[in-house]
Amino acid sequence: MKNLITNITQSLEYLVERIPWVYRFFDNYYENIIDNEIDLAGIKKEDRILCIGGGPCPSTAIQLHMKTGARVCVIDNDEEVVESAIRNVKRFNLCEFVSVELADGTNISAEDFSVVHIALQVSPKTRVFEKVVNTSLPGTKVLVRVAKDNFSKLYSPFKDDFISSDGIVYHRKKNLDYTLMHVTRGGANEEVLASANSFIFDCVST
Ligand SMILES: C[S@@+](CC[C@H](N)C(=O)[O-])C[C@H]1O[C@@H](n2cnc3c(N)ncnc32)[C@H](O)[C@@H]1O
Repeated sequence: MKNLITNITQSLEYLVERIPWVYRFFDNYYENIIDNEIDLAGIKKEDRILCIGGGPCPSTAIQLHMKTGARVCVIDNDEEVVESAIRNVKRFNLCEFVSVELADGTNISAEDFSVVHIALQVSPKTRVFEKVVNTSLPGTKVLVRVAKDNFSKLYSPFKDDFISSDGIVYHRKKNLDYTLMHVTRGGANEEVLASANSFIFDCVST
């Protein structure tokens, strides 16, 4: 079930189709966040990016493409959202570079992508993260936006204390604390199983 914050954000993003200048608000909001994430992951034109949780106005995906030239595939698990996102991408003449599909992050394969971006409002975030790591090739950079502690009840929990971090960038936002980068290692399943085991071990030993 969708939570309140996702409903509010989607409603605001739907406005972009009717009142195009509203896009500037999202553009400004995400600008520094995306600059930091591009630096963190060293994203280049040759990268192939998957954005999970694009919303009706997929600003993150659009800016990632505009700023790096990389091709971006966006998914969202809400049909109406996807239809609106496709119309917005067309309006920007970006269909060649930004595609939008109906899919759930818990049920995707990330093997075709070198960078995967998981939006703040994606839910259930830990399961989506595990699915991405389990299906991506070694070297894939997985970026996850994580909420500030005092806003954490509004978002799907993401327990990163048993996930190896390959970089982190903090943001100056009320609700968004940081983006964590995790680089997929080893063979399929190896890493998530290892982290799950150490988590179980921690629980048993305390
Ligand atoms: C409102 S958007 C915010 C993203 C923002 N527009 C951006 O550019 O970063 C968050 C979206 O994530 C989608 N979402 C949440 N959980 C998801 C999941 N498991 N798989 C795919 N999409 C998901 C919601 O349907 C919602 O539209």
